[in-house]
Amino acid sequence: MATGSNIRRRTWLGEAWDSTLGKKLFAAGSAAVLVAYLLLHMLGNLTALGGVGDGSPQIDRYGEWLREFGTPLLPHAGFLWFVRGILLIAIAVHVTAVVQLARRNRAARPTGHGAKRIGRSWAARSMIVTGPLLIGFIVFHILHFTTLTVDVTPLRHGEVYANLYGAFQKWYFVLIYLVGVFLIGTHLRHGLWSMLQTLGLDDHRRRERAKAGATVVAGVLVAGFALIPILFWTGALPEPAGSAHATVHALSALTARI
Ligand code: HEM
Repeated sequence: MATGSNIRRRTWLGEAWDSTLGKKLFAAGSAAVLVAYLLLHMLGNLTALGGVGDGSPQIDRYGEWLREFGTPLLPHAGFLWFVRGILLIAIAVHVTAVVQLARRNRAARPTGHGAKRIGRSWAARSMIVTGPLLIGFIVFHILHFTTLTVDVTPLRHGEVYANLYGAFQKWYFVLIYLVGVFLIGTHLRHGLWSMLQTLGLDDHRRRERAKAGATVVAGVLVAGFALIPILFWTGALPEPAGSAHATVHALSALTARI
């Protein structure tokens, strides 16, 4: 049964969602959740720099720790599913809010001569291109490393290091991931900056500082993410011993000799 207080709450949330400022805050809040996830994901990826370890690479142990986090209080991978749920909600809120805001903007824009877009940066206009491309990249990425559906190179559940090693021996995977990382950098730099504007930075100096801050956060993410495919591709990170990839290598060397 609906009580007075939860009617008030629904109305408050609904009203916030309907207003342009509220929608911008929803877009900014969901983006903040996604950026926090990206920073953690990038730091997690950097555990690959620990190399192969004593037969159990650090990134594999990190993956295992994530799957086991909270057990036995939570079921196996329960924490991961919780994070996935939050991510899905954040992406849905973000995409819906920005699409509705863009429609409102377009409807409010004057038409006819002299109504050309003035002062919109390349990054601002590129949001409409980088956003959908990023969604495409994320879908591909999950089909690749999470569900292991794109199994061009040997992929095994739980063998994160070996999976990364195998994939990044192929130039086209390196290229796809570097393009994905570039997309996230461009999208983030502009997105973060406009989010800081939404939060009300109106004087020139603070705006310039916010712009520089957005560039630094995006730059750190791009550098941190790009490092992994580059280091595997250049051979700076060693081949995992006993992996499916190493076995395929050994077998092809053997058949070449026969
Ligand atoms: C070169 C850059 C990247 C590398 C090497 C990388 C690596 C990985 C790996 C190995 C996994 C699977 C972990 C596992 O299940 O064992 C994963 C999952 C994932 N990555 Fe990335 N990633 C990169 C960039 C990105 C970017 C830019 C995004 C987002 C825009 C992203 C979003 C995700 C998501 C959503 C998952 C699924 C997490 C889950 O629910 O299990 N990744 N990544």
